[in-house]
Amino acid sequence: MIGSESVMFFSDKFDKIIGIDNNMRAYFFGDNASTEWNTKKLSERIPNFKHYSADIRDEKALEKVFSEYGTDIKLIIHTAAQPSHDWAAREPITDFTVNANGTLNLLEMTRKHCPDATFIFTSTNKVYGDTPNFLPLIELENRWEIDESHPYYKEGIDEKMSIDQTKHSLFGASKVAADVLVQEYGRYFGMKSGIFRGGCLTGPNHSGTQLHGFLAYLMKCAITGEQYTIFGYKGKQVRDQIHSEDVVRAFEVFIKNPKPGAVYNLGGGRGNSASILECIDLIKEYSGHQVKFTYNDTNRIGDHICYMSDLSRFMNDYPDWKLTYSLEKILKEIIEAQEKLARVSQCD
Ligand SMILES: NC(=O)c1ccc[n+]([C@@H]2O[C@H](COP(=O)([O-])OP(=O)(O)OC[C@H]3O[C@@H](n4cnc5c(N)ncnc54)[C@H](O)[C@@H]3O)[C@@H](O)[C@H]2O)c1
Repeated sequence: MIGSESVMFFSDKFDKIIGIDNNMRAYFFGDNASTEWNTKKLSERIPNFKHYSADIRDEKALEKVFSEYGTDIKLIIHTAAQPSHDWAAREPITDFTVNANGTLNLLEMTRKHCPDATFIFTSTNKVYGDTPNFLPLIELENRWEIDESHPYYKEGIDEKMSIDQTKHSLFGASKVAADVLVQEYGRYFGMKSGIFRGGCLTGPNHSGTQLHGFLAYLMKCAITGEQYTIFGYKGKQVRDQIHSEDVVRAFEVFIKNPKPGAVYNLGGGRGNSASILECIDLIKEYSGHQVKFTYNDTNRIGDHICYMSDLSRFMNDYPDWKLTYSLEKILKEIIEAQEKLARVSQCD
């Protein structure tokens, strides 16, 4: 999702855009999660886009691409990942080699072939492990909340939260490794690297599936009638939603004035935060569709009970950036996209 949004956004700002994606998402989550449709769409619509079906674990394949373009490469936006907690526990070695080793490969390629390029890494709030779950939390009718007396109540969780001595899930651990490596290439080698710890990144281009892409998958269930399963925390767990375009706009301002090794939390913040139950209600309100759901009392390991990103550090460093998508606008856009998709599949 974020990769394709970046391609669209930057296509008229650079001479050439290179995409590297081996559609491993279909291997992780099945054909329903394939990103091939999106790669095809980009190749058809964007004349200066060139796609390479390469695996970021494959150094030789990367070497070929990086040596072809060398110092002409000005920007790397690294969004390829195994992105799910649950899946990571199935194949820890695959998870780690994609998320950690793959990131190291890309960093090394950049250092070797285009050290002046800006390197953006999409990290995750899961680097904080389950530490956010030990904040003083209050149960409200439809959501969990941080206690009003806590400093994180007003703006959300900031980057000073420890990433150490917490249960991350194997996915969180492989992302920590990558996150710290990208910081190090900024601090140690002076590369223009930036780390963005995402909240819930979303938008109509997500190939949503049960194990990843919460809002897109929830909407798919609402529209197709597929049953959605809520795992634990009474469905009151809170996530902060940010539209993929606002994510990429954050990259844009960073690129203009990169701060090597900088770490930023990036999500929808308090304003775009909602629990699963609240999202279900909003979907009904905006689209008329009722999500059919069942409840499984066992929460997902690594799931946050209430997470909202504090955007202050990023907004202080980059005052030109602000969120342009409210939660309502995000939901309405995904509803429209999923309804269109449902109409197309009915015609097929
Ligand atoms: N979506 C979210 O809510 C969220 C939240 C926090 C962080 N993130 C992070 O943001 C990034 C982008 O997330 P997204 O939602 O766009 O994910 P996505 O799954 O839509 O995109 C990742 C892409 O990487 C590709 N890929 C996976 N392994 C690969 C490999 N070995 N070689 C080449 N390509 C490979 C996949 O095929 C997929 O197209 C990821 O790093 C993810 O961990 C996402």
